Amino acid sequence: MISDNSEYTEKDKKTISSLAEIQKPIRAELNAFKVHFKKHLRTDVFLLNRLIDYLLRMKGKEMRPLLVLLSARISGEISERTYTAATMIELLHTATLIHDDVVDEAEKRRGFFSINYIWKNKASVLLGDYLLARGLLVAVREKETELLESLSTAVQKMSEGELRQLKASKLQNITEDKYFQIISEKTGSLLVACCECGAISTGASPEIRERLKLIGYHIGLAFQIKDDLLDYSSNNTGKSSANDIIERKITLPFLAAMDSSDRRAKRTMKRLYRKKNKTDEDISEIKSFVYHSGGIAYAKNKMEYYAGCALKLLYEFPDSETRHIFSEFIRFVIYRKK
Ligand code: IPE
Ligand code: IPE
Ligand code: MG
Ligand code: MG
Repeated sequence: MISDNSEYTEKDKKTISSLAEIQKPIRAELNAFKVHFKKHLRTDVFLLNRLIDYLLRMKGKEMRPLLVLLSARISGEISERTYTAATMIELLHTATLIHDDVVDEAEKRRGFFSINYIWKNKASVLLGDYLLARGLLVAVREKETELLESLSTAVQKMSEGELRQLKASKLQNITEDKYFQIISEKTGSLLVACCECGAISTGASPEIRERLKLIGYHIGLAFQIKDDLLDYSSNNTGKSSANDIIERKITLPFLAAMDSSDRRAKRTMKRLYRKKNKTDEDISEIKSFVYHSGGIAYAKNKMEYYAGCALKLLYEFPDSETRHIFSEFIRFVIYRKK
């Protein structure tokens, strides 16, 4: 069985903290965030409430709010402004996932049927818009223009990345450079905003703010490469496995495998990847090709490199409990199984 965790030693796996362990020292603040988040989801509109109840049952990992809290704690003190930032970000993240599942025609999310699977595309687009607006309103009501600017920039970049990806999967003409541009826009930009907003909330110096943004950027790249690797594993992520392959979305493992193959193999695989209705055998063949041509190992290497860059920057902060949790968080990003 091909698993993207296959090359980690048992010792590696044992020393990785679980998300619950990482959250423990910051549990009270995470709970406070949840209260804010739920408060900002409330509405009197009946149909929306039904959708929102469903959304609240589909619990995500809440890694972005955690990253906001950690960025605030490493650069100063967590305050109401930090909760405002974390709430906005999780609302915007949820909105973009709902839209992303429409674009990717995904049937599952967080172990549940996706919103588009149950309520179809029209309701999904509207719910995504609604959450996006609610997220931006949080900042407007709190008169947080700096947070608003950071987040609106991120949302703009995310849309640009998703559109660029859409075009690339239609034309099947992606290169490694383009892949990195796409993932830095569609995923990196929001993780940059998490770190930046955490720093804004503590009034950190421009130097600390820049350092945190760069940490967020590198975590973002590692995070998306891991997500792309998980698509190749027989996963337990709560999302459908191999959806990228089914949707003809070319990611780093496939790109790297193609780069190391001869012309004949390339031609065969290109044709297979382009195929619209792939059978289970087609998918297994692609997975096997990617694994045996070194695509998984290559992507894993890149992912570890970017996580390493984030850790190096993190170690420019003085030693503290927060720095330790932060570093465990970065390790979790690349060793997680979902
Ligand atoms: C999924 O993000 C979208 C990507 C950028 C890969 P998460 O894996 O953080 O999703 P949830 O919130 O935990 O479901
Ligand atoms: C990330 O890419 C999507 C967003 C940034 C919204 P994916 O399409 O790979 O994310 P998943 O796998 O659906 O969560
Ligand atoms: Mg998707
Ligand atoms: Mg994915």
